[in-house]
Amino acid sequence: MRVETRVAAAGEGIHDAAALLAAGGLVALPTETVYGLGANALDPVACAQIFEAKARPLSDPLIVHIPSIDWLDRLAIVPEAARRLAEKFWPGPLTLVLPRRAIVPDLVTAGQETVAIRMSSHPVFQAVLAAFGKPVAAPSANRFGRISPTCAEHVLAELGGRIPFVLDGGPCRHGIESTIVLVTGDGLHILRHGPVTEEELAAFGQVRGAVSGISAPGGLLSHYAPRTPMRIAAPVEQESRLLFPQQEGSRDGRPTAPAIGLLSWSSSGEGFAEVEHLSHKQDLREAASNLYGAMRRLDQAGLDGIVAEPVPETGLGAAIMERLRKAAAR
Ligand code: TXA
Ligand code: MG
Repeated sequence: MRVETRVAAAGEGIHDAAALLAAGGLVALPTETVYGLGANALDPVACAQIFEAKARPLSDPLIVHIPSIDWLDRLAIVPEAARRLAEKFWPGPLTLVLPRRAIVPDLVTAGQETVAIRMSSHPVFQAVLAAFGKPVAAPSANRFGRISPTCAEHVLAELGGRIPFVLDGGPCRHGIESTIVLVTGDGLHILRHGPVTEEELAAFGQVRGAVSGISAPGGLLSHYAPRTPMRIAAPVEQESRLLFPQQEGSRDGRPTAPAIGLLSWSSSGEGFAEVEHLSHKQDLREAASNLYGAMRRLDQAGLDGIVAEPVPETGLGAAIMERLRKAAAR
């Protein structure tokens, strides 16, 4: 069923967003990472609409965003290390996966015994949650498996006609999703790399590998994906064409070379049909904040393929490479 999607500016829209949440509705909201599609986290019927609007499988649990720190212990059992992480990084781009309490609906945790919790630092998001007064479940506001939205226009492109309301808070500062950490007795397990880096987390406990039995977020190999085929490779124009051989075609009986775009880290991109630079000064924070917008523009450029140049895998670079690998996995 098609619905009219209203976009409201942050100031005047805050009250309406909170009222919609209270009425069991869906709202797209800005956070400091990406835009989220929110519903009352304690109301499974409200949350069911999230899965419907995103065409998201019910097996994929939602992150619960809390309005204030006192909600942490009401929703989860909190080990000491998790409390220290929350004190240091909240409000901010860190999600903690913790043993759940019964108050959290099964639909939100996808039946798992853990719940993912975060407190956003975005002033507009915080204002809506303060007015609503309850936790809000919110995945990224994109269709399932697609590129996360980092501005209100992206949300409209993904979910326009499927959700009633978008609160426009401008572009998201970080531009990639929160770091997700599972805290267990033996250390910290990074389930998704993000703006809070492995280096920063190391001060709070042993950083361990993945845990068996815990599905990594966006657990599917292919995720954050443009529709255009994408490969990670050094940007050598002639060789790049060989990466997309199936696209080699003919127009008007003449053979044509495929049109390849470049998502560039440091190269000029000469010879490519389209180029998007993640950061002209090779700054990883700037690169992260540009990543999804640049991928979206390349995806809309009518290309036969996209080559993504690898970025250095330190600090935020780990989060960027994790997303490029998933975007390239088909
Ligand atoms: O920055 C963010 O985290 C954004 C903003 C809106 O807060 N949200 C976000 O949500 O990226 P989503 O649903 O697109 O990605 C959250 C990931 C999902 O892949 C899900 O599988 C995982 O978190 N997740 C949620 N609950 C989990 C749990 N209990 N255990 C393991 N993974 C979980
Ligand atoms: Mg997502």
